Amino acid sequence: MELTERPRRLRSCAALRRMVRETRMDKSSLVYPAFVVEGQGRREEISSMPGQYRHSADRLLDLAEALLEAGVDKMMLFGIPARKDACGSEACAEHGVVQQAMRALKARFPKLYLIGDVCMCEYTSHGHCGILKGETVDNDKTLGSLARIAVSQAEAGADMVAPSDMMDGRVGAIRAALDRAGHEGTPILSYAVKYASSFYGPFRDAAESAPAFGDRKTYQMDYHNRREALREARLDIQEGADILMVKPAMAYGDVIAQVKAATDLPVAAYSVSGEYSMVKACARQGFINEAGVMCELAAAAYRAGADIYITYFAPELARAMDEGRIG
Ligand code: PBG
Repeated sequence: MELTERPRRLRSCAALRRMVRETRMDKSSLVYPAFVVEGQGRREEISSMPGQYRHSADRLLDLAEALLEAGVDKMMLFGIPARKDACGSEACAEHGVVQQAMRALKARFPKLYLIGDVCMCEYTSHGHCGILKGETVDNDKTLGSLARIAVSQAEAGADMVAPSDMMDGRVGAIRAALDRAGHEGTPILSYAVKYASSFYGPFRDAAESAPAFGDRKTYQMDYHNRREALREARLDIQEGADILMVKPAMAYGDVIAQVKAATDLPVAAYSVSGEYSMVKACARQGFINEAGVMCELAAAAYRAGADIYITYFAPELARAMDEGRIG
């Protein structure tokens, strides 16, 4: 057979396949999301996310040690306070659950890179991501609270803040407040392109943050839209975002690719709770190979253009990278 082009030539052995690989990944781009609760000695498994736990600050230290050992040196923290109220006031408390955890982590592991999730839904009694006016979230009133949360996290040792609320103008408000407080060097990782997604279901169990009424569709994006992602990205860039996130990851490769092409900022993809839980549940049934699917999903996010990958599988992925199964 006379064939000049034989793509199989470059697939003939593992060494060659690795040599010509188009997508390369590195542990330095992994971020692990963790849930912090109040109290001591607590490590409670999240029923809808097997293998994921809510930790009290002291137990979070053990988790951080294990992550560092696996080569994952970046954590994103979500707080679940003991008391919630209409204004989510615990979110910016000096001794709030996340602030305390950050101080403890920084004292023990100064090199651990800490990202604070800036949002109110875990802290409000109604579960919405801001302050209510009637049954809707009051955008402009919420901005002040978000700015206070970001500053309080920076004071507690956050290396970076990540607003996930989807209010208009929040990146600008947070940037101005950080600068005023002397944190002009603290970068903002903006959840710029965050869709209203059913993939967040398990997270809301974990954080007890499901909205008490209605949904988040008046602030999170409609998943039918792609051009709107560019608009959100553009606004956040203008307001001073340092990194743009697309969320979820798995079903949004087209959006990741498009945002990547439209910006010169680093792009992060968040593989959310529902993605993790789907893989876990299917693997437990014996329907899929967990590690195989985990690697494939990660590669898909990077291939689409993600520079940073936020995932509950971060330590397992790091191991897969070490063993050359991916990367
Ligand atoms: C807070 C927030 C959510 C997630 C990250 N930040 C939940 C939501 O918007 O309802 C979801 C993360 C995940 O599902 O893993 N607003």
